[in-house]
Amino acid sequence: MKLSDARKDQYRKLAKENMYRSRAVYKLSQLNKSHHFLKEGMKVVDIGAAPGGWLQLASKITGPKGTVIGIDLKEIEPIPNVITIVGSIEEEKDIGKLINLIGGNADVVLSDLAPNVSGLWEMDHIKQIDLTRKALEFTKTVLKENGYALYKVFQGEDTAGFINHLKEFFLNVIITKPDASRKQSSEIYVLCKKYKKKEQLQIRITNT
Ligand SMILES: C[S@@+](CC[C@H](N)C(=O)[O-])C[C@H]1O[C@@H](n2cnc3c(N)ncnc32)[C@H](O)[C@@H]1O
Repeated sequence: MKLSDARKDQYRKLAKENMYRSRAVYKLSQLNKSHHFLKEGMKVVDIGAAPGGWLQLASKITGPKGTVIGIDLKEIEPIPNVITIVGSIEEEKDIGKLINLIGGNADVVLSDLAPNVSGLWEMDHIKQIDLTRKALEFTKTVLKENGYALYKVFQGEDTAGFINHLKEFFLNVIITKPDASRKQSSEIYVLCKKYKKKEQLQIRITNT
């Protein structure tokens, strides 16, 4: 067995032992251990949330005073203290439902969105980054000032442009790849810290 496969199995085994629904939970857990963006009492939205590993961890960290809401095309088995909806980040009506549910400013937006992959690297990259752009548009409607966002991105020719675009909206943008993310996978995670004040964004728009 290759070392990378062994690592993949190690996280899958760990997820099973700890009753998490996906090995992806360890990516979020490792990122949060380094950057501490999820905290007790926070309001968190997770886009592309099925089967629910990230939701389980977010709910555990935010606790009973927190709010965790997830959306996915697929149905998510109920998780205590977590609200989920079946819908698409590409559909206005579903975005509307999500905004109503959030009922105010979110502290953190998470996006682990992935389309059905074709295996054609460049095509998958374009599809994935298009979805993530929708996640960013949604973020702008719900994230509070100084809030955080985490986006999965499949690397490709549009990555640099997208990351530069993110820098217009956040004070600090960090590109990272947690140990639990397979080395041979093209995915990276972009952690965006401190959503800028609406006035700062307004100045930028007026000056361009
Ligand atoms: C890698 S999985 C997420 C795993 C999740 N973070 C976990 O820990 O269980 C990516 C998800 O994105 C969802 N997805 C893809 N396109 C979507 C869309 N347009 N709207 C909402 N979810 C979408 C897929 O259905 C899939 O469940």
